[in-house]
Amino acid sequence: MKRIERTCRPPAFRMLLAVLMVCPLFLNSQQAYSQKPTSNSTQMKEIEASIEDILGQLTLEEKVAMCHAQSKFSTPGVPRLGIPELWMSDGPHGVRGEINWDNWGYAGWTNDSITAFPALTCLAATFNLDLSFAYGQSLGEEARYRKKDVLLGPGVNIYRTPLNGRNFEYMGEDPFLASEMVVPYIKGVQANGVAACVKHFALNNQEKWRNYVDVQVSDRALHEIYLPAFKAAVEKGNVWAVMGSYNKFRGQYCSHHEFLINTILKGDWAFDGVVITDWGSAHDTREAALYGLDIEMGTGTDGLTSTLINAYDNYYLANPFLEMLKSGEVPEEVLDDKVRRILRLMYRTSMNPDRGMGKMNNQEHLDVARKVASEGMVLLKNQGQFFPLDPDKEMTLAVIGENATRSMTQGGGSSELKAKIEVSPLDGLRQRFPKANILHAMGYASGPSVYGRVEPARYDADSLRQEALAIASKADKVLFIGGLNKSHRQDCEGGDRENLRLPFGQDNLLSDILEVNKEVGVVLISGNAVSMPWADDVQGILQAWYAGSMAGYALADILSGDVNPSGKLPFTFPETLVENAAHHFGEASYPGIKKVQQYAEGIFVGYRWHETKKIKPLFPFGFGLSYTSFKVSEIKTNAKRYGSQDTVTVSFEIENTGSRAGAEVVQVYMGKPDSKIERPTRELKGFQKLDLKPGESQSAEICTPISSFRYFNEDFSGWQLEPGVYRLYVGNASDHTYHTLEIEVGQD
Ligand code: BGC
Repeated sequence: MKRIERTCRPPAFRMLLAVLMVCPLFLNSQQAYSQKPTSNSTQMKEIEASIEDILGQLTLEEKVAMCHAQSKFSTPGVPRLGIPELWMSDGPHGVRGEINWDNWGYAGWTNDSITAFPALTCLAATFNLDLSFAYGQSLGEEARYRKKDVLLGPGVNIYRTPLNGRNFEYMGEDPFLASEMVVPYIKGVQANGVAACVKHFALNNQEKWRNYVDVQVSDRALHEIYLPAFKAAVEKGNVWAVMGSYNKFRGQYCSHHEFLINTILKGDWAFDGVVITDWGSAHDTREAALYGLDIEMGTGTDGLTSTLINAYDNYYLANPFLEMLKSGEVPEEVLDDKVRRILRLMYRTSMNPDRGMGKMNNQEHLDVARKVASEGMVLLKNQGQFFPLDPDKEMTLAVIGENATRSMTQGGGSSELKAKIEVSPLDGLRQRFPKANILHAMGYASGPSVYGRVEPARYDADSLRQEALAIASKADKVLFIGGLNKSHRQDCEGGDRENLRLPFGQDNLLSDILEVNKEVGVVLISGNAVSMPWADDVQGILQAWYAGSMAGYALADILSGDVNPSGKLPFTFPETLVENAAHHFGEASYPGIKKVQQYAEGIFVGYRWHETKKIKPLFPFGFGLSYTSFKVSEIKTNAKRYGSQDTVTVSFEIENTGSRAGAEVVQVYMGKPDSKIERPTRELKGFQKLDLKPGESQSAEICTPISSFRYFNEDFSGWQLEPGVYRLYVGNASDHTYHTLEIEVGQD
């Protein structure tokens, strides 16, 4: 039995090593700017001095021009001074195809097909920080190769409701998980001299009414749930750009929000980068000028994104801003602060002479995409070891479902990609299971994925059903590959789902299939939870996400057992919609009444709600099965009493007790019994993913600073540590604990 020590070495250290290995050439300049400016950094000082120098040479008009779009995805530079344009691209799962200068049509280039990386829900499900760095690094290389300066991602809005059409672009329901996963992604992207742009700041937790909904949320929930991932992006990831959101918060639009941007982002968090609007999310020149917006992007000038008229000079931060500056209504210092930030962004990106050239569609990127995809897939049920399926066995396999062949890189809104390769689940299975007789039927159909409207299916539902039942009845096993897709009112920007159910008649189809064949395994392709009335009746369930270019290969990796599943759910699957906290409180809480929405559940989002209210979910946060088994023992803390500045180290032994290599995510949740304030029963505070060969044991540690046990006290608007006894629940899902430890924390 081999023993390996896995200690609490900070991930930042591992990432630095990875940067050193991957990009030694431009480490010096990048390192300088991936750190916060320090007074002893000569290079930083020189750059700041150059910025002042340039500022002094710019005319008012030139400065204002830098604060707004000149095309769909670019802002102008100053050719007179050799200052380049800034080019941006979506994000967050790959570099989007080239869009026309002045409308949303694709430009039709033939050299803009890229690697599609798995959606961020899948990345979050890996619970693997190193993979997040590799993802960001590869994506940043593709962005650089495509000559982009700003990559519009990652997204870290919290998964509040399973109806949100954009959950797939985010990192789940837990602020700690999202905060951990976002940092390496940003560092990876920015190691290429390409800015990450974390979005959508803030509270854009639904697509329905996103252009105007006014979110009311408690300060406590804001700070404990909705802001931590953005804060980590700024303070730990040193992100260079932040995108505002479309919605309002307490009556003010978030893209020029005095409290969110001036007080919190640029004040408390000392963000020194650029705030960019979402496309068309500015609504007022004075507010945009004074409340922290630096660059206005979009299409029209009316706060919407639908007009085709080129009116860049009429943007809020264009001529109207110039007029206000000229009349003295807004002081020039306000403009200078924006331009300083923009120039700083340029020094980090477009004016960085040391950045590499990037790479695109190379094998390494495909390998990263495949690894993230297979590590992120979550095995939810495996009755009688239905999976893995033996590739050496001759069998008849009925593959049923539209998602077996449908492209999932197309549609979905701005995250849509022009993938150079997209291996479908069916192709992946055909290649990996050459001995199987694979029969395929669509079973159901939906319409094409178009933005903003639902197109009907072009097939006859009953014929599809009959065809599916015919192959199911003669197969040894059925693989149902369904879920959602990237169409409007599915997993797509600009609209929410209408209910929790599987669409397009899939529930009925599944129960019909189960009538003719009991050997059914379900593969769900989605970025959201769905209800599963058939969950007890099928043998296996795999949550396979939107897995990008290598989707089919990654799926075959898991289904064949070449890769042992190790993904864990980054959000809860409730049994029914009303069991989700946001929906429990009715219309006022979702979608809102008369454009105003109350986040009535406060801090009780996701598993915090389920655990505290003892509502058993269908599948809990943090849950995911493996083809092997693990034993976790010797769980202890390094002390019994801690001070407010201390770090608690939970150490344990983990053994792979099965016969396959595999990885387990050990999770530490904190709870405070007898707390004087209302608290969730448990909150994730640490995790560690460990790879183990069969029979192998490892010693490992999870370190958690006691300061992370603080709650946000609204009485004085600050973080407070309650002294007393705390419980640490060590387990492998939010509702599954191997062991509970008690520690005591002294007075602050
Ligand atoms: C989306 C953003 C995106 C932008 C540019 C907006 O509609 O909300 O996430 O980056 O468009 O495509």
